[in-house]
Amino acid sequence: MRRLLLATLVLTPSIAFAWPWSTDMMNQPSVKPQEGIMTPFPQHSVPVQGIVTKVKDRDEAKELKSPFQPTAEVLGQGRTLFRIYCSACHGLTGKADSPVSPKIGAISLVDDYVQNNLTIGWVYGTITFGSYVMPSYGVPSGRGDNRGANDLSHDERWYVANYVKFGLAKDAAEEDATHTASSETK
Ligand code: HEC
Repeated sequence: MRRLLLATLVLTPSIAFAWPWSTDMMNQPSVKPQEGIMTPFPQHSVPVQGIVTKVKDRDEAKELKSPFQPTAEVLGQGRTLFRIYCSACHGLTGKADSPVSPKIGAISLVDDYVQNNLTIGWVYGTITFGSYVMPSYGVPSGRGDNRGANDLSHDERWYVANYVKFGLAKDAAEEDATHTASSETK
């Protein structure tokens, strides 16, 4: 009988009970989630819905004016980004002379068509939303197929657009001159 009573006592679930000091481990001076200053988001991270842009497509971007003047610094930034993101298809100085250019039909960006016919807003729109074959660099779903990227921030896309319109042709001409000069010395 005694054994039975003991067993019953041991096996009966007791009421949950905690001593006041049971939570001590939790209450420590460390910073808890949502407490204190939130760390800023890493550069280039975007909300899952994508980047909010003021324009919805390339047509709307056409008339946009550049928020930057084509200063040496802006063109320098644009040149660096162009060489990283655009040169594979369009060539180092935009002359469509990379090995890939003819294969995918990447056009020369130093010809009259881009230099004189396309507005800087349209170039910015092309970089942001992509074109027919060309991928987008501002809005992943820019071409409607979710195969683009958001590698370039708003400001970076304007740096590249400025470089395409105000720096690229000059660099291409200089490259041609160096090329001719070096072949003459041979
Ligand atoms: C994967 C290859 C590829 C890359 C990388 C690429 N482009 Fe293109 N781009 C193309 C092709 C192909 C075309 C022509 C067909 C089209 O419009 O899609 C083009 C067309 C363009 C046009 C003309 C658009 C028009 O309205 O006719 C511009 C301007 C341009 N690219 C700028 C850029 C810039 C600036 C970058 C870098 C941010 C870049 N491209 C990166 C492939 C590429």
